[in-house]
Amino acid sequence: MATPAVRGRRVPWLHPAAKPLLFVAGLLPFAWLFWGALANQLGANPAEHLIRATGDWTLRFLCLALAVTPLRVLTAQPALARFRRMLGLFVYFYVCLHLLCYAWFDMGLDAADIAKDIAKRPFILVGFAAFVLLTPLAATSFNRAIKALGAARWQALHRAVYAVAGLAILHFFWMRSGKNDFAEVAVYAAILGVLLGWRLWRRLRPQAAPARRAGQAPR
Ligand code: HEM
Repeated sequence: MATPAVRGRRVPWLHPAAKPLLFVAGLLPFAWLFWGALANQLGANPAEHLIRATGDWTLRFLCLALAVTPLRVLTAQPALARFRRMLGLFVYFYVCLHLLCYAWFDMGLDAADIAKDIAKRPFILVGFAAFVLLTPLAATSFNRAIKALGAARWQALHRAVYAVAGLAILHFFWMRSGKNDFAEVAVYAAILGVLLGWRLWRRLRPQAAPARRAGQAPR
């Protein structure tokens, strides 16, 4: 099928295969980890590898999902918005895997032990708070929920993603502070800082006020 064109320019992300391709790409880390576990290729401590790798992928998909709007605006490519929901749902998919790996391999799926551990270890509590905040965002990412909530309330709710990003970085920082190893934390903090800083700057600059008052639809 030919790549659809906008004003005479071919736009690959409007191609009908673009979304299925992104879906398959998003599942590749999961497939890789699943294969690695089956083939016993995850190193000396497979449980730790799985917990850490799923945490890393949660953070990577969070960066990708938050990069869609700046990219869409800065490149004047509104069609890029069609990938945001799927990327957001991949954040939730990987955090669920991360939580499951922790609950299963570290805690033996013992609910009482998990609750005690979350209350006892601050870095786990912070990660769990990020998971709790992500849950209503994932649950309301569908068209019917957007319609039911209305654009303004939906947008207000989805601003919780700022808190999720902050908690995710704090969780990672706290976890690495035991090893005094902050290089990766600093990279993710810088990326999320730029992506969220750009959004804040756009919302707070004076020209943005009329658009906000007009109650734009969520994008
Ligand atoms: C948005 C939510 C979350 C994000 C972005 C996230 C991200 C991460 C990252 C990046 C790591 C470090 C990986 C590495 O060292 O390469 C990690 C480790 C970890 N996270 Fe999370 N996490 C989240 C939520 C949670 C939740 C809900 C739990 C459990 C209740 C949890 C438990 C852990 C544990 C146990 C580790 C490994 C600690 C270790 O190996 O010493 N995280 N997480």
